[in-house]
Amino acid sequence: MRSWSVILALFIATGIFAQETPIYLDVTAPVEERIEDALSRMTVEEKVAMCHAQSKFSSAGVPRLGIPENWMTDGPHGIRPEVFWNEWDQAGWTNDSCVAFPALTCLAATWNPDMAYLYGKSIGEEARYRNKNVLLGPGVNIYRTPLNGRNFEYMGEDPYLASKMVVPYVQGVQSNGVAACVKHFALNNQETNRHTVNVHVDDRALYEIYLPAFRAAVQEGNAWAIMGAYNLYKNQHACHNRYLLNDILRKEWNYNGVVISDWGGAYDTYESAYNGLDMEFGTGTDGLTDARTSEYDAYHLARPYLKLIKNGDIPIENLDNKVRNILRLVFRTTMSANRPYGTFGSPEHFDAARKIAQEGIVLLKNEENILPIGLDGKKRIAVIGENAIRMMTVGGGSSSLKAKHEILPLDGIKAAVGNKAEVTFARGYVGKISVGYNGVDTGQAIEDNREKDTLIAEACRIAEMSDIVIFVGGLNKEIHQDCEGLDRYDFQLPYAQNELLDALSKVNENIVVVLVSGNAVEMPWVDNVKSIMQAWYCGSEAGNAIADILFGKVNPSGKLPFSFARKLDDYGAHALDAYPGDRDVYYKEGIFVGYRWLEKNKTKPLFPFGHGLSYTIFKYGKPVFSSRELSSSDSIVVSVPIRNTGGMKGKETVQLYIGDKKSTLPRPLKELKAFRKIELQPGEEKNVDFKISVADLMFFDDVRHAWTYETGKFVVYIGASSEDIKYSTEITLK
Ligand code: BGC
Repeated sequence: MRSWSVILALFIATGIFAQETPIYLDVTAPVEERIEDALSRMTVEEKVAMCHAQSKFSSAGVPRLGIPENWMTDGPHGIRPEVFWNEWDQAGWTNDSCVAFPALTCLAATWNPDMAYLYGKSIGEEARYRNKNVLLGPGVNIYRTPLNGRNFEYMGEDPYLASKMVVPYVQGVQSNGVAACVKHFALNNQETNRHTVNVHVDDRALYEIYLPAFRAAVQEGNAWAIMGAYNLYKNQHACHNRYLLNDILRKEWNYNGVVISDWGGAYDTYESAYNGLDMEFGTGTDGLTDARTSEYDAYHLARPYLKLIKNGDIPIENLDNKVRNILRLVFRTTMSANRPYGTFGSPEHFDAARKIAQEGIVLLKNEENILPIGLDGKKRIAVIGENAIRMMTVGGGSSSLKAKHEILPLDGIKAAVGNKAEVTFARGYVGKISVGYNGVDTGQAIEDNREKDTLIAEACRIAEMSDIVIFVGGLNKEIHQDCEGLDRYDFQLPYAQNELLDALSKVNENIVVVLVSGNAVEMPWVDNVKSIMQAWYCGSEAGNAIADILFGKVNPSGKLPFSFARKLDDYGAHALDAYPGDRDVYYKEGIFVGYRWLEKNKTKPLFPFGHGLSYTIFKYGKPVFSSRELSSSDSIVVSVPIRNTGGMKGKETVQLYIGDKKSTLPRPLKELKAFRKIELQPGEEKNVDFKISVADLMFFDDVRHAWTYETGKFVVYIGASSEDIKYSTEITLK
């Protein structure tokens, strides 16, 4: 008996009975080894199944091997509610109401990378808790025209600002073992004709303006997923585009993550196979489907692809490379070691949403310091405008949410005022109202059939009796407003709001405009109102954050991530009649987008890029330069003393721009190259340090196809916005 147990122990010790863990299941093994091991165990059918959707938002794993499915979710402002297997409509779960974070324009307006990390981390936790391993966001398409219906989902007009903000967002999301899927790669700068328009852009604009934020997301943020765009570039759809995906993303940037199609963005099996697409989603298969099987089998990267592989038309290596990328996604997320568990709808997430909103709201104008509104004296406050009572988290396309709560501006204002003043509301105008989106009901009954004149008269009556008018208007998430799929019709405020503001300003001179929008709007009334606040779409905590700023609980510190021009034709795309095109759109303004265009043409914007006021005063001291000469291998340190000379604690974003004095190729007057946000107590002074190196002086040479520099003189500008330049000085690159 004893000798048997000795023999048994020997067997176990020598591993004869022990079952070896396959490498792909060993979380301690290097990812690349796990990938090769998993791949070697898979059938060709199993591999193909991973390359396309199996439902609206998921794709197959390998059930036989215990490799989980991939589950995607929109993005980028909150976790989309669960949908039915084959539909866009929500499935009616009762446990999936999320925290709605502010729109990405608002995040960009914080100019605070710490806020971007907090945003990414929080939304990533929400995604993780809901068992999603890919978050479809953030979006970093550049603001080329204020008519783009999706600008609210992006980070503004400047490639440097967008780059600095996207990286921490991606890192925050991915710290949860959830992939950020950066979208829409690339040149998706309008919604009009988005599936058919072929973008013509020169290489300088491509590399200097439209690609840097994607490149930063990939190279600095190490994004694990990227989504192709709907539009075409060089006559090829962006989702299977050899230039964008093979040449730039994979070869130039060494990207090893997964490429996911936009929903319905793949059009061709061969191109999908050869031009960089790994996973196909949302394809409309009408007419391709064969009733005996699932329509998903008819996707380009499904049965048609399998057939070409099986008959040898496409080599198996082509499929294996896609599956490697998909498995890498799996091992980085669902099958990674120590993946956190996430949290959902937590007080911390609502706090994060409020904090980001507070820092993103931009005070554009504040005559006579009408803001913050003091509540000590007896006050009658009129709140006027539909956006004060209208939910904004529902609608607008794929970023639409089912939020746990959304504080409306009127409710936020009432809560902040309490019984210290009297708040009266008038609608003032009525916009188009949909009751819900994709099966998510707003629960709001705010239809109103009154005529325009009646609404204006009522609003004026109330305004006349009030000490101050808070007008809450702007755009909304209906189609042709700030909404996916269709651009805005024009630059004006809709629903006769201009007329209303005109009328209001005749009866009350204390008007504060709170603009809820993701885009700039024309402001013919700008001189008739005392204050203007750009309040974006702030999500769950919108009303609270707006009230925090209005009543001075928080000192505003947001700065514009895009220029507010006076009229539509002041934007390059419109001045040159280069929007929206028909089958083709030509980006004739080249690198001169946003402030680059305005400055080139000496056109004064209404509110410039980088602009944003505070309730306190920041005094800029004389910057100290470590040297005025730079070589290609060293750097200059610039130290800018900033003092808070006002009476309230506040944050200021100090901006550094650089312009090339003389160059062979045309260059913008100046470009943002560094910024830093600091907080100062009243009376406090801090130094803000920046480092300038040769990389900040480079441009993309389209002939040599390389980033390059020319020696000579450059001007360094330090300011509180692109227009409010406090100091400028020359440096020399030797
Ligand atoms: C949008 C994407 C979105 C996807 C899934 C598409 O229509 O362009 O941004 O992630 O739908 O909802």
